[in-house]
Amino acid sequence: MKKASLAGVLLRSTLLLLASAILGSIVACTPAEAHERGIRFLIGVSQANLSEPWRIEMTEEIKAEAARHDDLRLILADAGDSSVQQIADVGRMMKEGIDLLIISPTDSRALTPVVNAVYSRIPVIVLDRTVEGYGYTLFIGPDNRLVGKEAGQYVADMLGKKGGRIVEIMGQAGSPPMLDRKEGFEQAISSRRDISIVGTLVADWLRDKAEDKFSSWLEKGGRVNIVMAQNDAMAEGAWRAAAKLGITSIKFVGIDGLPGPNGGIEMVRRGQLAATFTCPTGGKEAITYALDILRHEDGIPKKMILRTSLVTARTLAIGAQAEPVPPRLAKPGHKIVLGFAQVGKESAWRIGNTISIKDAARRAGIDLLFVDSEQDPAKQLAAVRSFIAKKVDVIAFSPIVESGWGPVLREAKAAGIPVFITDRAVAVKDESLWVTLMGSDFVEEGRRAARWLVDHMKTDRPVNIVELLGTLDSAPTIDRSEGFREILKDYPNYHIIVSESGDFFRNKGKEIMRQILKELAAKKQKMDVLFAHNDDMALGASEAMEAAGIKPGKDVVIVSVDGSRAAFKAMIAGKLNCTVECNPLLGPQLMKAVKDFMSGKELPVRIVTSEEVFPASVARKDLWTRKY
Ligand code: AHR
Repeated sequence: MKKASLAGVLLRSTLLLLASAILGSIVACTPAEAHERGIRFLIGVSQANLSEPWRIEMTEEIKAEAARHDDLRLILADAGDSSVQQIADVGRMMKEGIDLLIISPTDSRALTPVVNAVYSRIPVIVLDRTVEGYGYTLFIGPDNRLVGKEAGQYVADMLGKKGGRIVEIMGQAGSPPMLDRKEGFEQAISSRRDISIVGTLVADWLRDKAEDKFSSWLEKGGRVNIVMAQNDAMAEGAWRAAAKLGITSIKFVGIDGLPGPNGGIEMVRRGQLAATFTCPTGGKEAITYALDILRHEDGIPKKMILRTSLVTARTLAIGAQAEPVPPRLAKPGHKIVLGFAQVGKESAWRIGNTISIKDAARRAGIDLLFVDSEQDPAKQLAAVRSFIAKKVDVIAFSPIVESGWGPVLREAKAAGIPVFITDRAVAVKDESLWVTLMGSDFVEEGRRAARWLVDHMKTDRPVNIVELLGTLDSAPTIDRSEGFREILKDYPNYHIIVSESGDFFRNKGKEIMRQILKELAAKKQKMDVLFAHNDDMALGASEAMEAAGIKPGKDVVIVSVDGSRAAFKAMIAGKLNCTVECNPLLGPQLMKAVKDFMSGKELPVRIVTSEEVFPASVARKDLWTRKY
């Protein structure tokens, strides 16, 4: 046995001991016993394994947060990385009568059916690794593709103009974080021909496996400038392998950034790692949101993406500068003042969004300063500046366009005023300039429209698509286009023949479609499909089609985005074929986030809303669900 493996055995036994200590200290009880002890909520926690330091930290966070609430008890189970075991664990917890399940799945595909089955009976929070589809209450975790991408950009910068050789050390083969981090990383370095990946070693997230594998790789004569490990434990293993061979020229980069003497942050401080990317476990958030769900609070989102930040010797030296404005405690009796700069009134969606925000502010007892920016980016910028001057407690806005926000966001941060971005994103690299971004996943909406279309058309014949874009340079337009094309690239018979902006307005959609139809007729070109970036433009375009003797929804298949009441009525009338939901009812979510923040709670970097796809076949049945 190699020395490294001996160290491995020792480390594993320590971790196992720790794991049993954790499990041993958890109070498991039947619902009857729980009731007697004044316990209101029994929460099951199914952990994929307790052999990785990051998961031990996650479990510790869950326990620590749970310990703050007398009325809840946890039942914890360690699946030892076995899906079969995890399915059995969940079954046992259900028999014991848990009120809510928190699960960090071993394997996304294998656990999907059981998570869906549990979700049909009680709320489920999926932590860190997601399952397929949306059959759960809330997902909490990092955006692993983004973490990988940021790591890739950092490594590319480190190598500079000379470029260099990289070894990647991967977590468990095929696991979603492994695949997503790899994809993000490789995408970020893909344009650099001077950088090559000279080795890919799979070490299952384990330090000692990484040490063994990297040691053999070096002994075979491997030469490398940077080791990119998908977690800090494996980066440490690789560092140890190099150190034992007396190699000091290699730089090591990891992911996790855990605190504590053996965590990634200390490894950066000691110079073992050049950098790490923090990857919060979400353990604390899982318990706080579990309680909110069990107490039936308003504004529970579908996904919460946790903030990642780069840790290097330099960021450690400059302290907390890359952090957003910290959460604060409002004085008792203080009425929170929220400044909100709205886009305008372009669509049913926007009007629904405004009503939702005003209603929710009133119900939450928040003083709302509301400005309608009337589709004018300059007016919106001035509104945000006026909120800074008025020293409001929180600023929120839905950016009309993505660009141009850097300076005013820096002004807000310098004034110590937290900014919440709702609905649409800004194109600003420094994520510390805002506290959270809440709203839809527009890329996913574009993908959903394309998936529905391909499934509906089921054809190999050429399909001509006209696309009506929303406001140019706005996040929904950019992202929906991207998602739509991402899916269609695998279907070469689908052609986007025209792509023009109708600015999200019904009358502009009508006008543009009138012109497009003329141009197509002149070219003797046929349009099979309309993809409209919102319902209003689809409805306006249908009017133009009817005026030209074309039957919308029959001669031309129409898929649009928003899921408004008017779109449902058009589907019932056979004039629209599908609408992809984009939920504007963000008011309760926003007010919850504002109040949470003002009571000292940290917020995730991204809060994603729950949404569905509605084809015409369900329009009559689901019409009553439409509130906008
Ligand atoms: O930002 C969301 C988009 O803005 C909606 O899809 C559209 O209708 C609205 O105007």
